[in-house]
Amino acid sequence: MNDNLHQLRCFGCGSRIAGADAQPDFRCAQCGDLFEVEYPGWGQRGGHDRPNPGALKWLWRERRCSGEPLDASGVWRFRELLPILDSFGNAISLREGNTPLYHLPRAAKALGIDRIFAKHQGMNPTGSFKDTGMTAALSVAKERGFEWVACASTGNTSAAMAAYAARAGLRALVLIPDGKIAWGKLSQAMDYGAVTYQLKADFDGCLNVLTEIVKQAPIYLLNSVNPYRLEGQKTPAFEIAEAMDWNVPDHLIVPGGNLGNSSALGKGFREMRELGLIARIPRISVIQAACANPLARMISSHAAALEPVEAHTRATAIRIGNPASWRKAAKVIEESGGWCLDVTETEIAIAKAEIGAEGLGCEPASAVTLAGLKKLCAQGAIQPSETVVLVLTGHTLKDADYTIDFHRGTLLIDDEKRGHEAEIDALRRDAVTLDATPAAVLAALKGQVG
Ligand code: F0G
Repeated sequence: MNDNLHQLRCFGCGSRIAGADAQPDFRCAQCGDLFEVEYPGWGQRGGHDRPNPGALKWLWRERRCSGEPLDASGVWRFRELLPILDSFGNAISLREGNTPLYHLPRAAKALGIDRIFAKHQGMNPTGSFKDTGMTAALSVAKERGFEWVACASTGNTSAAMAAYAARAGLRALVLIPDGKIAWGKLSQAMDYGAVTYQLKADFDGCLNVLTEIVKQAPIYLLNSVNPYRLEGQKTPAFEIAEAMDWNVPDHLIVPGGNLGNSSALGKGFREMRELGLIARIPRISVIQAACANPLARMISSHAAALEPVEAHTRATAIRIGNPASWRKAAKVIEESGGWCLDVTETEIAIAKAEIGAEGLGCEPASAVTLAGLKKLCAQGAIQPSETVVLVLTGHTLKDADYTIDFHRGTLLIDDEKRGHEAEIDALRRDAVTLDATPAAVLAALKGQVG
């Protein structure tokens, strides 16, 4: 049986092509825009390939008790909604997905909204949401016979790609901005055996170089311009809906970098509504760092097109000035009734420490979601009775240097701390060096225990 039911539709001009006919850079030959995967058989009610929502909900729940490797994946458990492979047997999986949805009691109390949850995508095999997209797109690369795969990355995509390539027996080429990614992520690419080149460029520069390389060599591009990445990355939307018994949250808040993830989650919710799995979609809001905020600028100035910026932020994962998927993300925000905001370096650092204090932790780029939620609450955009899900995209251990610098008090400069000193001091937990005696430890603890 052929499991492949998809075609590609250009997001700009609407032209349709077969999956195998895409150009190496995944740009439309007619208009240069990006493609989206679509499933023509889903169109009509009662249509031949249209999945039955009641049967799917039952099947997906049954698979949670299954011993089959494919069913153990939180991506391929939902495979009826991503029929992109000729055979699902070709899927390369590391048991990605099935990530926890945690309540955030401290944030809920502080903001007066009881139902605030974190979908922790950092709990994936390589520690970020990229695994859900990588299992999908790398499986396509393997099935189509590629020997090399490549990505430009701020670190997490490269970690995920290197791991899945190693599992599949493919060679991996990683291009990263020199000195501008967190060490934990670079170490992963090395550990999984990727060929890693650090270029004297930012992320956008690395992606430009790679886009030329894939036109000249048989290397499969695995950045989120590759529409199959987004098929995997839409599955956390299914997990969230399933965890809420097919009621969706009122708000979903997502960090914005290259803008593939917000596009993917929006597609996931849209398809579930089209298929009758859910009745409505959440408001999807995208949060950027204040000095890497081209989409927030575009939307607040009502501009017709995105103006690239030179990006700066310590949240290196989202240090991106020319995001590829801005059109898709802008449509998701508009159609869902969400917002796009930016948050300062200070707001990110405080929010990250607060997520740490919930016992969860995340990497800096993920913390923009809580910082953005606070802003949305202050603007009256979120009501106390509503349900909010923050998408935490990466694990706290990805960027331990950032965390240590915050707690030592060396992360932010004085100008950034001004006006927030009390808040920051209440969150800081420096590691103190003491004499190795019980008396010294008890003296240091004085007033804190009992
Ligand atoms: N959060 C983390 C932890 C990320 O690594 C990224 C992107 C984002 C958020 C933004 O997601 O790009 O889909 O809007 N990291 C990419 C990378 C660019 O190369 O790892 P996006």
